[in-house]
Amino acid sequence: MAKKNQKYFVCSECGYESTKWFAKCPSCNEWNTAVEFTADVFDNTTVQSTSEILFLTDDIKEPVKIKTGFKELDEILYGGLVESGVYLLAGEPGIGKSTFLTQLSSNIGNEKTVIYVSGEESAEQVFQRFKRLNVKTNKSKIGLVFENSMEKIVSLIEKLKDKPDLLIIDSIQTIKSEKFSSYAGSVLQVKEVTRYLSEYCKKKGITLIVVGHVTKGGIIAGPKILEHMVDAVLQFELEKTSGLRMLRILKNRYGPTDEILMFEMTQIGLKAISEYTQYFLKDYKNASGNVLTIVKEGSKLIPIEIQALVSKPVYGNPRRVTSGAPLDRLLMIIAVLSKRLRLPFESKDIFLSTSGGFKISDTSSDLAIAYALLSSLFDISTVDSIVVMGEIGLDGNVRHIRSLEKRIDFARKIGITNIVIPNSKLEYKDIIKIKNLTTMLKKFFS
Ligand code: TYD
Ligand code: MG
Repeated sequence: MAKKNQKYFVCSECGYESTKWFAKCPSCNEWNTAVEFTADVFDNTTVQSTSEILFLTDDIKEPVKIKTGFKELDEILYGGLVESGVYLLAGEPGIGKSTFLTQLSSNIGNEKTVIYVSGEESAEQVFQRFKRLNVKTNKSKIGLVFENSMEKIVSLIEKLKDKPDLLIIDSIQTIKSEKFSSYAGSVLQVKEVTRYLSEYCKKKGITLIVVGHVTKGGIIAGPKILEHMVDAVLQFELEKTSGLRMLRILKNRYGPTDEILMFEMTQIGLKAISEYTQYFLKDYKNASGNVLTIVKEGSKLIPIEIQALVSKPVYGNPRRVTSGAPLDRLLMIIAVLSKRLRLPFESKDIFLSTSGGFKISDTSSDLAIAYALLSSLFDISTVDSIVVMGEIGLDGNVRHIRSLEKRIDFARKIGITNIVIPNSKLEYKDIIKIKNLTTMLKKFFS
């Protein structure tokens, strides 16, 4: 990133930055897209400078926190939103971002002042939403702005007697700086508006939340380029089986990441769900190719159904398609199964999905994926009430996974009687321990 007052160039198509001018963008290969900037804007990736050495014994102020009013979220955020923090709330259109922010405004609007900028909805729509969500707060604490020009938004805030505590921009793709002619939502505008507003809010001590739409394909057109500019990224995802809205903490300068919160969309807005297990199990059927596993997302254990379909290829080359599970993981498991067990996976079409397309990153589901593949290949359904957990190594050995005991307790709590785990010294009753893929195959047919 450029230093203060240094000239730099940004590609108006893809947002590529360089201190040198370019005719053709090296990143997206477009011609004549370099726009000149002077870095007079604040670079929020650098820490604030102090002119003296600070010692741990020195009295350093705790950051002021604003409670969001969503109990679980406040816990994850160690007490709430940080004063002057910059947050990105990302998600597909229609998932509930505006609903969430309306509720948040209402939760905090008793003591704090909120300026809610809506760039994409009419005053009537926004007022209706506040009304439907039954906002009971001190209504004079929530100010609504319907404006797309960043400069006008800032001048409206400047006119206020006291600075607001929270500024919400819904959404960043609809706000435009008058300094540039490119359209709102372009990479250039999205970057510059966020950069300017972050600087402005940090200086004034205002917490900023910018909403960023994610396209259906999961590409965060605007948000992806913003991730490094903000202090925390919260992303809403829809879990299709349960219909629950998952709020994932993807980045957090002020606390833990990879946490996940679940919400249900109700008549009166989003409701946090603490008992979520039954939502994930309601459609589970014991058929060939299906098996349950337990994944760990942040501090939560979630039962997830893995479904595999192994079939004769329709076209020449065998296909591998995944939904929810990472494709590279599937390819690795297929390769290990083929090599270690000499099973004919390599010539088959293979489809793999998690229930509801729930995105898993936890490698503890490897063994369940292998189980589901075997089950589909031989067209044999696994026994009723089974959960399979373990990571598979390239050597075909099944490796230990973290929080194993917690997962076992959890499986028992939801009434599972057959629990398959990696070989371990732990002594458990009624548990099947698997050392490697060969023992797995034997157990599978026993
Ligand atoms: P919205 O919050 O506008 O989504 P986003 O800002 O992410 O585009 O609304 C999401 C959906 O939720 C919308 O289709 C209407 C519905 N909804 C409810 O079911 N209950 C409610 O109380 C509200 C406000 C919206
Ligand atoms: Mg919205």
